[in-house]
Amino acid sequence: QYERVWLLASMVLIVGFIATITYGAVGLGITMVDDRGATIAPDEINEDERFGDPRVEQVGDDEYEVYAVAMTFAFQPDPIEIPADSEVTFYVTSRDVIHSFYVVGTNTNTMVIPGEISVVTVEFDEPGEYGLICTEYCGAAHHEMEGQLAVL
Ligand code: CUA
Repeated sequence: QYERVWLLASMVLIVGFIATITYGAVGLGITMVDDRGATIAPDEINEDERFGDPRVEQVGDDEYEVYAVAMTFAFQPDPIEIPADSEVTFYVTSRDVIHSFYVVGTNTNTMVIPGEISVVTVEFDEPGEYGLICTEYCGAAHHEMEGQLAVL
């Protein structure tokens, strides 16, 4: 009869986890991969016109696009520099394993999956310095995987 108790307990835990994840994704208004459904194989990154040269690109008066690449154990470009009062769309992919792209102190945290392009748009009104960190365990130096985002 203890088996039943453990079974019930583990089911409660699983439902709890799912509820937490769902709340995290929906409740905070995080934009996951967008409907462009873009993919890119890790071994095509170097030849790709966007990701081969990770960079910030101005696409409108106050609009910027950032093509970023995550890898063990860094982000490119680093630092990312963008002007204040701008709307920035980050396109992020991975060279190797699953990482994440977390702009510390904001609700921007997207998983970065090899083969896929994660897209997230963020408005930066004020100048400031943000850290970028990876919140998905990706290897021995996961805890050292960080970058800088400067809003100038
Ligand atoms: Cu990349 Cu953890």
